[in-house]
Amino acid sequence: MGALVIRVACAWLLLLQLAGASHVIYRDFETEAATAAAKVPPSIVDPLLRTGYHFQPPKNWINAPMYYEGWYHFFYQYNPKGAVWDNIVWAHSVSRDLINWQALETAIEPSIPSDKHGCWSGSATTLPDGTPVIMYTGINRPDMNYQVQNVAYPKDKSDPMLREWVKPQHNPIIVPDGDINATQFRDPTTAWLSGDGQWRLLIGSAAEGGDRGVAYVYRSQDFKQWRRVQRPLHSAATGMWECPDFYPVSPGHTTGLDASTASGPKVKYVLKNSLDVRRYDYYTVGTYDQKAERYVPDDPAGDERHLRYDYGNFYASKTFYDPSKQRRVLWGWANESDTRAHDVAKGWAGIQAIPRKVWLESSGRQLLQWPIEEVEALRHRPVTLKDTVIKTGEHVEVTGHQTAQADVEVSFELSSLDWAEPLDPALAHDAERLCGVKGADVEGGVGPFGLWVLASANRAERTAVFFRVFKAAGNGKPAVLMCTDPTKSSLNPGLYLPTFAGFVDTDLPDGKISLRTLIDRSVVESFGAGGKTCILSRVYPSLAIDKNTHLYVFNNGKADVKVSRLTAWQMTKPLMNGA
Ligand SMILES: *[C@@H]1O[C@H](CO)[C@@H](O)[C@H](O)[C@H]1NC(C)=O
Ligand SMILES: *[C@@H]1O[C@H](CO)[C@@H](O)[C@H](O)[C@H]1NC(C)=O
Repeated sequence: MGALVIRVACAWLLLLQLAGASHVIYRDFETEAATAAAKVPPSIVDPLLRTGYHFQPPKNWINAPMYYEGWYHFFYQYNPKGAVWDNIVWAHSVSRDLINWQALETAIEPSIPSDKHGCWSGSATTLPDGTPVIMYTGINRPDMNYQVQNVAYPKDKSDPMLREWVKPQHNPIIVPDGDINATQFRDPTTAWLSGDGQWRLLIGSAAEGGDRGVAYVYRSQDFKQWRRVQRPLHSAATGMWECPDFYPVSPGHTTGLDASTASGPKVKYVLKNSLDVRRYDYYTVGTYDQKAERYVPDDPAGDERHLRYDYGNFYASKTFYDPSKQRRVLWGWANESDTRAHDVAKGWAGIQAIPRKVWLESSGRQLLQWPIEEVEALRHRPVTLKDTVIKTGEHVEVTGHQTAQADVEVSFELSSLDWAEPLDPALAHDAERLCGVKGADVEGGVGPFGLWVLASANRAERTAVFFRVFKAAGNGKPAVLMCTDPTKSSLNPGLYLPTFAGFVDTDLPDGKISLRTLIDRSVVESFGAGGKTCILSRVYPSLAIDKNTHLYVFNNGKADVKVSRLTAWQMTKPLMNGA
């Protein structure tokens, strides 16, 4: 059966910046690194800011995810020669648990006429006989990023590491039709086998001069000849869609579904796209009518409303169905948020978020996400805080261990919602602006309360992850905002410190709300209310490094907040590609 075995990352990010300049200038990275180092604050190149348990190759620039059976495989877009986008190949790592990684040889690099000028993102699919196939975008012209789709097969299926890949003669298998802009035609999804015996996959594209994001369906009987369905599966006025992802889910079921076998009236679909213009991943939940070859979001405003997987630094993600644990796993990429000079000086750029299990909430309105359980094997030395009331303007330090690499779970109990501030209707749909105005240090009614992570001893440096409760105009219902405020995260000058925020769809049952934050030196990855709202940020402290890192719970609201329970674990380092 069509268990979707390998999945490949999508993310091929910075391409656009180079799109105009396909004659990329060759750079001497060592010289550039020396010059860059001179311009960059010393602490930012501190190896102690390099993440430990987030996926990373030993050096250089990365950006893409995947999966496999027995062994998880991760293929990703990688520059073997430097920490900036260039020379992109498909690098390859394998793992037994999605946490400990071993790097293998490059899986795919330019070698045939239809990928001579680049091997960009794609996906993998397992055929019914168990053969994994990689489908990826190739660039076949030197003068412009003209995109076609290719396939590659394992040379030796009996090698569980799938080290070598061959590209059959019939490549390319899909070329853009005349009505498609050939420079906006990429990132094939994993294919699925439908009840009518045909394979289907999606390709991300754009129409109307680039204004409209489009997902085209291609069908095939034999996986060789592919024909486009004239009308797209779906489209919206959002600009180019990169890295589309399309998969079945079932409300309230935490187990995942395989796209080739899912059926039944309760099955819903998620369509996710990476918005090239805005640089984030958004999704809608809806129904898929296979006969009409159309997808319709449940919420007619869904394409404008923009539910996001993550309201922070998270792009070009993909999911895969993991048959060994019957779950769907989401993996996204987070770039560095600083300059090219920083990246070159550090010698590495880009990490993967912690893989997340993803499922549809029982209301059917949104997805829930939670770090895969395997990450808990890295936890040790727990420290606990119980039934601790944090009064207005107070903070409590969580002492007892090092928190530069930690996993923190906390449950808050609110004494009363009476103090909640009225929600400004002008900002009621703009969480990011709301958080920009009402940051962690702006006193409120109910909140801001939450964690200060990666804080220095004097708290001159601290990154706030917090909630703030408002009263919605009209119905007076609680409107809960979740933010990451990095504006005080570093004394290093000139860093990019965006405030990230999203609303949390909760009525605060019994006045309770939870937060989990994974801290990994320069990553702060948070899950609000059991994974309803997620925010990943990159921060580069100058003082709060290694042993000089502190963790606090704070409350800048008028209403008392009780920490009913907080547990913080130190995290050990897994095997990470030999680094
Ligand atoms: C095709 O896409 C490119 C961006 O990749 C854009 O610059 C160009 O204007 C588009 N062409 C048309 C005819 O829309
Ligand atoms: C990466 O970092 C830059 C800031 O340097 C940011 O503007 C950009 O949107 C980020 N994200 C992605 C997905 O490219």
